[in-house]
Amino acid sequence: MFQSTGRTCEQHTQLTRVFAIVGCDGTGKTMLTQDLITKLRTTGPAERLYLGLVSGEMGDKIKGLPIIGSRLENNLHRKVDRALDMEKKLPGTGTAFLMYLFSLWRVTQLLRVRRLSRRGVQVITDRYPQAEIPGFHYDGPGLTVGRTSSWLVRKLAEGEQKLYGWMAQQRPTLVIRLNIDENTAQARKPDHDIEELRDKISMMPRLGFNGAQICDIDASVPYAQVLEAALQEIKKTGQVTV
Ligand SMILES: Nc1ncnc2c1ncn2[C@@H]1O[C@H](COP(=O)(O)OP(=O)(O)OP(=O)(O)O)[C@@H](O)[C@H]1O
Ligand SMILES: [Mg+2]
Repeated sequence: MFQSTGRTCEQHTQLTRVFAIVGCDGTGKTMLTQDLITKLRTTGPAERLYLGLVSGEMGDKIKGLPIIGSRLENNLHRKVDRALDMEKKLPGTGTAFLMYLFSLWRVTQLLRVRRLSRRGVQVITDRYPQAEIPGFHYDGPGLTVGRTSSWLVRKLAEGEQKLYGWMAQQRPTLVIRLNIDENTAQARKPDHDIEELRDKISMMPRLGFNGAQICDIDASVPYAQVLEAALQEIKKTGQVTV
């Protein structure tokens, strides 16, 4: 069941009791992380952290802001989408700077994960950053060196790559990868673009999370089975007593 793929970095920090739940939109990450944390809290201190960016939970929070929320979320999503479009040049210094700030925010979240892990707290993360494939859609760097002629944007992209390099070195105890087919994903997320879902689904198996231990779970089966499978995999690590 366990497998690890992808590029690995010699230097890494092995985090204890840190479980990352990853997968395309609609695989049930939010639902699963919430239920796992409830279970883990019966055994000791446990925290759930969302490590994604504009999509998912953060997008919903921005949308919920009074008056400007919906427009702001739309605007950010458009900017990120434009920046991710590999056919075009990066959209400009302002957007590049904004994306760099998002990446910095992600670093602060990962520092929190590290601190909690060192204090012996069990941590469940919804998503996990990776440095192997660029693109915020895949929780990788949003900027790419070589797609811009601007000196400043290039510097921001280089800096961001370093941030992701550091984040990828923080290896979780276990990555639980939820797998799904595009039709099920779209039935669960009807407002999401099918092309985007297909793209994310195809990218997931290529991520190795810097050599972390990975287990695959079929997320298209009834939810109770997904939850039970995830609990079993967490238990197998021997680091928690659920
Ligand atoms: N195994 C399952 N069977 C049926 N429905 C499910 C299952 N898992 C999740 N769902 C439902 O699918 C919808 C999407 O779940 P959820 O929001 O947890 O996904 P997500 O992976 O967090 O998506 P995003 O990446 O967009 O945040 C929810 O309505 C949830 O109730
Ligand atoms: Mg979610």
